Amino acid sequence: MHNSAKIALLLLSAALATVSVDAQSSASSSRHINTGMTAAPAAFNLATAGKPGCANSPTGGNCPESAPCCSHAGYCGSDALFCGETCQPGGSFDPKDSCWPLPMSVNLHDEFKDPSRLVEARDYNGFPDSADWVVDYSLAKKPHAEITADQKLVLKLNRHEPHPDTGGGIGATVHSSRWLHYGTIEARLKTAATGPGTVSSFILISSISGDEIDYEIVGKDPLDVQTNYYYRVQPGRPVDYTRSDSLYQETDTSADYHDYKIEWTPTEMKWSIDGKFDKEHSRNVTKAEAGGSFPDTPMRVAFGLWDGGSFPNEGTSDWAGKNTSYAPNNEREYIMSVEWVKITPLNPEPAGEPWPGSKYLKRMEESDGGKGGSGGSGGPRVGRGKSGATALTSASSLATAVFTASLAAFASFVFA
Ligand SMILES: *[C@@H]1O[C@H](CO)[C@@H](O)[C@H](O)[C@H]1NC(C)=O
Ligand SMILES: *[C@@H]1O[C@H](CO)[C@@H](O)[C@H](O)[C@H]1NC(C)=O
Repeated sequence: MHNSAKIALLLLSAALATVSVDAQSSASSSRHINTGMTAAPAAFNLATAGKPGCANSPTGGNCPESAPCCSHAGYCGSDALFCGETCQPGGSFDPKDSCWPLPMSVNLHDEFKDPSRLVEARDYNGFPDSADWVVDYSLAKKPHAEITADQKLVLKLNRHEPHPDTGGGIGATVHSSRWLHYGTIEARLKTAATGPGTVSSFILISSISGDEIDYEIVGKDPLDVQTNYYYRVQPGRPVDYTRSDSLYQETDTSADYHDYKIEWTPTEMKWSIDGKFDKEHSRNVTKAEAGGSFPDTPMRVAFGLWDGGSFPNEGTSDWAGKNTSYAPNNEREYIMSVEWVKITPLNPEPAGEPWPGSKYLKRMEESDGGKGGSGGSGGPRVGRGKSGATALTSASSLATAVFTASLAAFASFVFA
């Protein structure tokens, strides 16, 4: 596996893992997107790790009631960017309650008939019944992702406004509103690999745990469908880049729709294209093969399109294929188009449950120090295995009450 690609993949994971939001409050418009250029894997910043309160709380301690949630960048606010996935219980107003609980997946076969099922992160209220898809915060004034009248989920990359950090184009990331803990994801999509520099992706990712399972297609070679997985990508922890593989296709992924599938069980990860499980179209990684590095925490489904060719990091830009062209006058636009997506959880939640219902993914209080502890009444615990790997309890315990995931727990085992 070539070195440049390795670097690039890491950065992709950082870029997709989160948008690092530095804001004085939810009302502030001065936000900074972490493009992953500097401190990769800067998936997020454990602002409160090891110290009480929220790093940039106006009151100096935990966030105030008016802006109760401590973001991963250590700022207080009350919308999805603060209370959503990377909210830090320890610095929040009420460590037990301020961060929104995270919903688990229902069976979903989405043919994108309803544009209102996709919302901007800033407009998302945390209720999964209100949206299936959330568009990550974007630097662009106009949205770069939408469900179109012809029933496609479309992600756009253009340089109608230059990216303030890279000078390149601005793309989009769309996340599922719910979290999957084992199951199958499938999507029929056409990549944006119509020119060097673009990166199209269909992945499972958690910026809480740093786990990730990927399909990535770079514009440099639209036939080269790359698979990859990551385990616990966290700041300060070495990242293994050797797991990338190529499912080389005979046809151009940007010319036609193809079906991309990831099957993820407690014992294996399988990638297959157009339903074919053969040497050319598939990849099968078992838990034994992955050693102690088998992604096993809840993740969200994500579609991403971004400009890798304009990254200042040479590894990334080489991998994606530099330079991304918007020539001659920035009128060129790259489009990734998804016809449908199907999410089939191993243990689906019943659809139409009131929210929050009896089962959800809840972060533990930071004061637990990652040593287990209450995630709610009788719920499974986060513990540590012999190898030091966090043992989120088995899938079967999902059938019980509350499922816990803890930033603090992951952090403590990562740095232990
Ligand atoms: C994946 O590999 C495991 C172990 O080698 C095997 O048991 C399983 O059948 C394989 N799956 C497929 C679809 O080939
Ligand atoms: C690519 O972009 C870099 C940075 O802007 C520039 O220095 C270089 O000349 C460009 N290469 C080509 C082939 O246009």
